[in-house]
Amino acid sequence: MATYQPTQEDTKQLRRVSADLPPSPPYSDHSDGEKVEADAVQPTSRPSPRDFPLPPDSTEPTAVLEPDKKTPDSWLPRDPRLIRLTGVHPFNVEAPLSDLYNDGFLTSPELFYVRNHGHVPRVEEADIPDWEFTVEGLVENPLTITLRDLIADYNNVTYPITLVCAGNRRKEQNVVKKTKGFSWGAAGVSTALFTGVVLGDVLAKAKPKRGARYVCMEGADKLPNGYYGTSVKLNWAVDPNKGMMLAHKMNGEILRPDHGKPLRVVIPGQIGGRSVKWLKRLIITSEPSDNWYHIYDNRVLPTMVSPEESANKPAWWMDERYAIYDLSTNSAIAYPAHEEQLCLVGSEPSYRVKGYAYGGGGRRVTRVELSIDKGVTWRLANIDYAEDRYRDAGRQQLYGGEMDLEWREHSFCWCFWNIDLTVSELAASNDLLVRAMDDSMNLQPRDMYWSVLGMMNNPWYRITISKEN
Ligand code: MTE
Repeated sequence: MATYQPTQEDTKQLRRVSADLPPSPPYSDHSDGEKVEADAVQPTSRPSPRDFPLPPDSTEPTAVLEPDKKTPDSWLPRDPRLIRLTGVHPFNVEAPLSDLYNDGFLTSPELFYVRNHGHVPRVEEADIPDWEFTVEGLVENPLTITLRDLIADYNNVTYPITLVCAGNRRKEQNVVKKTKGFSWGAAGVSTALFTGVVLGDVLAKAKPKRGARYVCMEGADKLPNGYYGTSVKLNWAVDPNKGMMLAHKMNGEILRPDHGKPLRVVIPGQIGGRSVKWLKRLIITSEPSDNWYHIYDNRVLPTMVSPEESANKPAWWMDERYAIYDLSTNSAIAYPAHEEQLCLVGSEPSYRVKGYAYGGGGRRVTRVELSIDKGVTWRLANIDYAEDRYRDAGRQQLYGGEMDLEWREHSFCWCFWNIDLTVSELAASNDLLVRAMDDSMNLQPRDMYWSVLGMMNNPWYRITISKEN
């Protein structure tokens, strides 16, 4: 990978962080043309990501919502459109699926799903540059790094990455049989341009010792069972192709509090639960994390394990084979939307069915298929892979990070698909089914795999069409 020296713009950015940030630049500032830094490599004939505007109506909320006022997050303004899935607190939300889809390839921070296990650590603007995290454990060179130094001393990159909660689509499982998890619809997924430092660069400075096999991560949110933490394999973390990063910006802005302000891990292609927010510690170990949240969360236990049994037999939880890392291949239909009224007679000759799909572990979605006859026959949808346009844009500076995706062999973003049906086809069908396949030929299954935590649900996505005269 090419190396990048911090530019004057980065130093300016840092000063802004320490002085008077926010206000983070409103999105409208970017949409009329991102400022190009002096050393940017500007391809003339290639498309630029600046041709693909950020979500249009993104503005940071200013009002604290009524439900939050009596919670530990009573200082935090949020967007009222988000649907709360766990009562008032902690804040676990998704956008209405059609709003998420309409937002486009990059999700505005207001509509980005949130999964918090507890309160949001509050960080004052003036303290952001001094935010520290450690690299410790089985390393020759333990480090304590401030955000100021992370930005100044390391190569900063900007990548589009889709994050997905492992519980995405859990609602369907809860309908079949109650799991221990709350009911995510299909909008527990969002995409942003993340700017930060490749995790492998930091680990290279810390120099893992012989026998080191895991990177444990811990956040600043103290919960009933300790700080939130988890781990991933060290060999993934040091592989630049996996693109794991320590991110401090999202869509060109300082991270929002709900998304890990001021620093988080972002692990492309893996379940969101591994992307630790409000990062305080990286601990290099020979064994996977023993953090409570690593063991009792984000696992797919065998299907026969009931909630009672899982509570009484801790051995189920200790088996690292059941821990989930790569996302599974998945897709959903955004349009027709829930309770959308379709006119099945009349002038419009066709209706465009639309939605999203994603693969796991960097695998690319290679086909999306739709069935209007309960899976007897399938037809191919058109796929728009917006990530390719960022890849084609060549190397350039974007939000203080180098964006250079040409080298990236994997796909770490969702794609959007669509297919036109004639009105008479729609009128004749009772339901629509969709399924995706990735480049390892992993096809979404017909049947659901129920498990006690309700994770990784990815059977064919189905919507029913109810007809009225
Ligand atoms: N990191 C900390 N410190 N605390 C958390 O509660 N939740 C995890 C992960 N990182 C969590 C965390 C889970 S389960 C998910 S899916 C993602 O953050 C969600 O990231 P987001 O809220 O920015 O969308």
